[in-house]
Amino acid sequence: MNNEELRSAFCALYGPGPVRLFKSAARINLIGEHIDFSGGLVFPAAVALRSACALRERSDGLIHLASTSCTHRVECRVDDLDGHSDLPWGGYQLGMLCLMQREGYTITGMDMLFDETVPHGGGLSASAAIELATGIAAATLSNEKSGTPIDRVALAKLGQRAENEYMGMNCGIMDQFASAMGKKGQAMLLDTAAVTCEYAPVDLEKDGLCLCIMNTNKPHNLVNSPYNARRADCEAALADIRAIRPLEHLCDLSPAEFETVKHAIKTENGLKRATHAIYENQRTKDAYQALCAGDMQGFGKILVEGHASMRDLYEATGPELDAIVDAALAQEGVLGARMMGGGYGGCAIALLREEKLEAFKEAVAKAYTAKTGFVPIFYPAHIDDGAMEIVE
Ligand code: GLA
Repeated sequence: MNNEELRSAFCALYGPGPVRLFKSAARINLIGEHIDFSGGLVFPAAVALRSACALRERSDGLIHLASTSCTHRVECRVDDLDGHSDLPWGGYQLGMLCLMQREGYTITGMDMLFDETVPHGGGLSASAAIELATGIAAATLSNEKSGTPIDRVALAKLGQRAENEYMGMNCGIMDQFASAMGKKGQAMLLDTAAVTCEYAPVDLEKDGLCLCIMNTNKPHNLVNSPYNARRADCEAALADIRAIRPLEHLCDLSPAEFETVKHAIKTENGLKRATHAIYENQRTKDAYQALCAGDMQGFGKILVEGHASMRDLYEATGPELDAIVDAALAQEGVLGARMMGGGYGGCAIALLREEKLEAFKEAVAKAYTAKTGFVPIFYPAHIDDGAMEIVE
């Protein structure tokens, strides 16, 4: 829906009157996978797929949630925001509002209508986009009353806590940070230990290149996936290393340092996950350098190495992601491709020559469907701004 259609849909549902619009973005990740809870460097960007929220305040302390794409409706009192994680829809919004309220934001009654262009279960972080659309909307209302500026990093951290503490998904900070802090045309080299980022311009057009998001259409649900178990493997490896040397985060170790302490890791899984983490962190640094130096061939090669590590060491790809990445890498004009996000389905990303894009999509779809039976969807990866009020 465009903005006007969303306003009309809101008024049709909740009655005529003023409507404010907010949105937040989905994220891609260039490289740096599954290390945002190990103090690693990751390299995400916000993209022009969004979760939008149309909103009007109410004076009776009731929150109403509705969506343009499903029939679920939620009604909740502002003094009863806790404990709704098992709703079929609406848990991310209530989780975000609940955590914000605990942190001192004034959460008032409101009618909200959500409209999304981010695919769900697609590895583009639809949940973070919902949390930050909710967060920027509620923070705008709350901060207008108190006259305080919005702290976007604080909102990102609350979004992560909504996932961890409310929804039970032990994700890192990458998705919420990208959604809150994204800037048009810029990727973010995010230090997940300090929760600070350096923006890096991504101007692929000048080299005749583009990024293409490839949705395997094999849905994934990270709450029920091995995501938390993989994170637990990383934490166990960290605990094993701590028995022989002090260490705050796994990714504080360089590859050379890791090689001297890895014998302390007690399980094979711990060793595999930690090896992925340490070398993925290094790959992120190398990819950033390659991008800054304009070495796009080198950048593409790092993406391919990242996928292999996710497949063989972290074991979070699966047949569909492997098939779509293999199909992509077999095409002419492709510099690199890799799975992206949580894994076990969802999306991958490819870096390729722009002039080959149409032929690429056709050939990848054919090869991928022949192998898996799923029909993929492709999206352009236009790097865009993150959470904001839409002011027209
Ligand atoms: C999911 C999580 C993120 C991150 C990625 C993998 O998207 O929400 O915190 O761990 O997986 O890099």
